[in-house]
Amino acid sequence: MAKGFYISKNMGLAGLLMGAVAVVIIIALAAVYDKEKTKNQNKPVDGVAMLTTASPTTSSTLSTPKDPWEHYRLPDSLSPVSYNITLWPRLVVNASTGLYIFTGQSAVVFQCKKDTDLIVIHCNKLNLTLLNGHHARLTGLDGATAPTVKTSWLQVKTEYLVIQLNGKLTAGKSYRLSTDFQGELADDLKGFYRSEYTEDGGKKVVATSQMQATFARKAFPCFDEPAMKAVFHITLIHQRGTVALSNGRDVETVNSTIDGTEVTMTRFEPTKRMSTYLLAFIVSDFDHITGSIENNNVRIWARRKAIAEGHGNYALNVTGPMLNFFERYYNASYPLSKSDQIALPDFNAGAMENWGLITYRETALLYDPAISSVGNKERVLTVVAHELAHMWFGNLVTLRWWNDLWLNEGFASYVEYLGADYAEPTWNIKEQTILNDVHKVFAVDALASSHPLSRKEEEVNQPDEISEMFNTISYSKGAAVLRMLSEFLTEPVFARGLSSYLNEFAFNNTVYSDLWDHLQKVRMSLPHTVHDIMNRWILQMGFPVVTIDTATGHITQKHFLLDPDSVVDRPSPYNYTWLVPIKWMKGGVEREQHWLLQETGISNANRHPPMTTAGSEWVLANLNVSGYYRVNYDMDNWERLLNQLTTDHTVIPLINRAQIVDDAFNLERDSVPWESVLILYITRYLSQERDYIPWESALRNLNYYILMFDRGQAYGVLQVVSRSTALSLLSLLSLRYNQINAISFACRMGVERCRVLTSDWFREWMLNPDHNPIHPNLKTTVYCNAIAAGGVAEWDFAWQMFKNATVATEAAKLRSSLACTKVPWLLNRYLDYSLDPAKIRKQDCTSTINYIAGNVVGMPLAWDFIRARYGGGSFSFSNLINGVTRRFSTEFELKQLKQFKEDNARVGFGSGTLALEQAIERTTANIKWVAENQEPVMKWLANECT
Ligand SMILES: *[C@@H]1O[C@H](CO)[C@@H](O)[C@H](O)[C@H]1NC(C)=O
Ligand SMILES: *[C@@H]1O[C@H](CO)[C@@H](O)[C@H](O)[C@H]1NC(C)=O
Ligand SMILES: *[C@@H]1O[C@H](CO)[C@@H](O)[C@H](O)[C@H]1NC(C)=O
Ligand SMILES: *[C@@H]1O[C@H](CO)[C@@H](O)[C@H](O)[C@H]1NC(C)=O
Ligand SMILES: *[C@@H]1O[C@H](CO)[C@@H](O)[C@H](O)[C@H]1NC(C)=O
Repeated sequence: MAKGFYISKNMGLAGLLMGAVAVVIIIALAAVYDKEKTKNQNKPVDGVAMLTTASPTTSSTLSTPKDPWEHYRLPDSLSPVSYNITLWPRLVVNASTGLYIFTGQSAVVFQCKKDTDLIVIHCNKLNLTLLNGHHARLTGLDGATAPTVKTSWLQVKTEYLVIQLNGKLTAGKSYRLSTDFQGELADDLKGFYRSEYTEDGGKKVVATSQMQATFARKAFPCFDEPAMKAVFHITLIHQRGTVALSNGRDVETVNSTIDGTEVTMTRFEPTKRMSTYLLAFIVSDFDHITGSIENNNVRIWARRKAIAEGHGNYALNVTGPMLNFFERYYNASYPLSKSDQIALPDFNAGAMENWGLITYRETALLYDPAISSVGNKERVLTVVAHELAHMWFGNLVTLRWWNDLWLNEGFASYVEYLGADYAEPTWNIKEQTILNDVHKVFAVDALASSHPLSRKEEEVNQPDEISEMFNTISYSKGAAVLRMLSEFLTEPVFARGLSSYLNEFAFNNTVYSDLWDHLQKVRMSLPHTVHDIMNRWILQMGFPVVTIDTATGHITQKHFLLDPDSVVDRPSPYNYTWLVPIKWMKGGVEREQHWLLQETGISNANRHPPMTTAGSEWVLANLNVSGYYRVNYDMDNWERLLNQLTTDHTVIPLINRAQIVDDAFNLERDSVPWESVLILYITRYLSQERDYIPWESALRNLNYYILMFDRGQAYGVLQVVSRSTALSLLSLLSLRYNQINAISFACRMGVERCRVLTSDWFREWMLNPDHNPIHPNLKTTVYCNAIAAGGVAEWDFAWQMFKNATVATEAAKLRSSLACTKVPWLLNRYLDYSLDPAKIRKQDCTSTINYIAGNVVGMPLAWDFIRARYGGGSFSFSNLINGVTRRFSTEFELKQLKQFKEDNARVGFGSGTLALEQAIERTTANIKWVAENQEPVMKWLANECT
């Protein structure tokens, strides 16, 4: 997946003074603080590969189909109680089919809730063995007589096995439905699938699984909806010498011979009552490490070599403490008898919270202190925290349907910071939520084509619609509004409500309002109910900008839009006004929280006299940006705040400093001269700032300039000016910071000396491939610069190193750097490689194309490549369209985009439908921005140069 993309809004003349010198300073210092984060942080976690956009506007069913098997939701007549499943994956190609396959038997015991002569159960891509001429065998239990089967068939479109009976099943009675089946163990990253890798020169095959959201039905026939919880008795049959893992502890391992094949059978303890999407089955010859006595039920699994080299140690070190933290936070003990975490060579998402057997990409679980960077380590920490948080929230208590996915993922995305902070208290990791969630999602949620967090249950039906829920809005806005909720309730109250909710609904399902109920029960006195406050944040899209006039004490709010002229068609039940909790300070002292609710326009009711101020006393609102909104002030207060920043910025909380920088780029202001002053102040302040977060905030906003201008004349001038300034800053910086950081900064500026240095290092490595002389934290910078400056020899060497890499983080750095070359035919060849699973793993296809599109030379090539192949691809279209159109800012590109939409309207865009709409809206906004800013920026730069 591509790096995060940050859009900044109309900046008017902000750009002028932000020009070369300021740019250089900002880029320079940001580089110093950049811990190679962006490279690592954008691979989502959980289940489906996350989309960077929002969800679809189309509803699945135009007219209601008649027959139950034509509905995408199961009828409510049957309810599963338990399953008995035996699966046998073959890790060698099947001679007769030429495929990798698995065979299995499953028996599900279900209770009849309403009399019916129809059984509808999910089943996808499985070949069922006929039993007495039918696809399944039905038995009555506890004296119930099972009707005979009239007819049975597979309903491919809705992914069902349908069985019509000659008589009725009786409400209150239980039955057993048995099936025998064979499926392909494909390399498609879905359901029960296979992953491959080479070790000691030989090919190894792993059978593994990814059930979320709708793929359990591809492993065995099942009632595949999250509310259809049941107990699972699982047995895996596997090749001797391999190890089998599943959700529960193994309770019996026996060797036997089946049809002349020597196998081992591993039986697992019955699971707790759980959802199908959280099941996991894995057969491998992996090795593991186990925690110490107090955490002896914690294990980390990976390729033998990775375990032997200690790459699982860091994850093991932090898992125990984090489990203890969550037990205390939720006031509920860990619900299972063991906790396994496993790193897989092929895995589509970042990680998946299967209950008791969490699966990861290698880069999200394994850490090699000798080769990996600090950013790699941080990635492991936060992903592990996110998944462990789900063991209670999501797994023990599960949302009833996928329309509430935001609560599940938003919650884990919020509390992952708490767990991570507990395990690494010195890293100040909680602060990063402002960059990773709040600012990231502000960019999407400011579009008129955004969507509300919560959708109606009946609007989310088909698998495509479900997978489109896994997007930035669900994860990051979900995290941001839950953080806001926790902050205004206070953390102890929030945790008490949670604990009450988890207790009441353990092993069961909920809707979001159940959580509000439990928080309401334990709430402190609030002027509004939790429902009233929170529903405004989840049932309408977007967020407000709150404007405070400190001369009069007037406070107003307004729906914040990237393009203020864009038309918002989506109606809101609350008219786009919010109940806004305002934590604030005056004169450096925190004051009592104020609640804002009003329509736009000023009335006396919206006055808050304590917020008036005079002299040098400033008002700062939205302390620590705990609220999901922007804040604007009257000019005088801005000036007082900026004065404070330039005299002693430490008086202002760190997160607010990052917010002020972001607001300076993003807020609309009428007074042009004022903007110049503002930007000047900000740059002056930044030159004193020593913390990472405000710098990163500035850099991300600047990235927008670079994207908009790097194909135009302005960019050349910008670079020339920047480079000369960069050189003088280099000597200054290397005194102040260590040499490594100075080099990293100079490289980013394209300084000649740096190019020589990185190319030399790279050449040194080329001469002695077994000894890489490049520091782990610098690798991404050095590889990319050396490959960009080099030709086919550098590229081919890096490709070879990529193919040989045994550490996934190293491979990931090389894979992104290979996209840095400026040679078009190399980029085109690399694009071709991206679709060849023998060269680039399928899990990495989308992000590789996006890396290429990130390169100014590669962008048009990638765009052509995608257009030519649309419809046949295995790539995630939603992520691709986002990555490839980042730079789009011309009428011609807009036209192409619209043409593309038209040409493929018949095929449709599935889970990428809204991503395309958003790309069009963003391109339109970019065109407008460039039109307004290009000339003034050029003029200003021309001035600077003379
Ligand atoms: C599961 O099925 C196997 C045979 O398929 C049988 O031996 C076993 O007793 C069954 N277990 C349960 C819990 O029903
Ligand atoms: C399932 O059956 C179809 C049709 O006979 C066959 O082409 C396919 O290979 C089978 N799949 C497996 C995994 O056996
Ligand atoms: C099963 O066979 C394997 C390999 O032949 C052997 O290592 C293992 O000890 C046997 N396990 C049991 C339970 O007999
Ligand atoms: C894991 O913890 C042990 C014991 O505290 C420590 O020696 C080791 O360096 C840690 N490993 C990593 C990778 O952090
Ligand atoms: C699950 O919750 C529902 C609704 O609150 C309740 O009726 C049902 O009994 C619960 N089921 C279990 C197994 O706890």
